[in-house]
Amino acid sequence: MEAVQRIEDVRSRVKAARTAGKKIGFVPTMGALHIGHISLIDTAVADCDFVVVSIFVNPTQFGPGEDFQKYPSPLEADLQICEEHKVDLVFNPTPEIMYAKDSLTWVDVEKLTGPLCGRSRPGHFKAVTTVCAKLFNIVLPDVACFGQKDAQQALVIKKMVADLNMPLEIIVCPTVREENGLAVSSRNRYLSAQQRNDAAIIYKSLCKAADLINAGNTDPRAVIAEIRRTMNHVPELQVDYVSIVDAQTLQDLDNITGRVLVAVAAGLGPARLIDNIVVDVDR
Ligand code: PAJ
Repeated sequence: MEAVQRIEDVRSRVKAARTAGKKIGFVPTMGALHIGHISLIDTAVADCDFVVVSIFVNPTQFGPGEDFQKYPSPLEADLQICEEHKVDLVFNPTPEIMYAKDSLTWVDVEKLTGPLCGRSRPGHFKAVTTVCAKLFNIVLPDVACFGQKDAQQALVIKKMVADLNMPLEIIVCPTVREENGLAVSSRNRYLSAQQRNDAAIIYKSLCKAADLINAGNTDPRAVIAEIRRTMNHVPELQVDYVSIVDAQTLQDLDNITGRVLVAVAAGLGPARLIDNIVVDVDR
């Protein structure tokens, strides 16, 4: 495995792999790698012949007052994980390498970026799509892997790729969870042991919602109220949103029907946690 910082080094390594007939897989990350990221890497390695992982804490996607300054960057440990999981190339650029001072271009996906996290993180998705478009243009992968844990992000990236005719396939991998159900996240590092325990209530409340929906409940307001009631068991949890939306359009539903996304965001101490569950309602 090689780790490089320069764009031209990525281009030359990938070009050589492609010339050798290899299928190129890509996993974009912000580092602080955990078993969620590893599941994406393992998927890319299983599906492709040459796998690139980017580790870049993208400053533009953090809002004022968010955790950019304290975002964990354990580079040595990350490189070791990549090596152990058969990654071929790590791209670990600086912000100066990624962003020219006179850059004027953004990639913005409309509508899908409005609801859910878009409401409380203005500009976030525009920064994510822009950095991913840049990374795709640098790496030129055949396949890129994203996690269902960030369901809105995965959907927005898929839409960007389709709308802009980007020649790659997006694979969305299932959410990896801790034993207590908490979705694994780099931000879980901010939590105390007690808070990690408490945070399990988020997935518990999502499962309860899925049960209610599967039992025939079609009123989103009633299910959302039940999720909020369950999450209230942990008073420290600051709920940002609880939404039940169409899994493709992310629009609110009057009636729970079709493929729905039940999504939650909440603050717990220093961490903002998100999670979701997809329920197929066949009625
Ligand atoms: P980051 O939070 O590091 O996540 C990188 C990828 O790992 C994302 O696709 C995310 O959905 C996936 N992931 C995180 N936790 C997961 C879990 N528990 N199970 C499955 N997949 C999980 O998302 C970003 O970085 C950035 O926005 C990025 C796309 C790299 C652009 O800067």
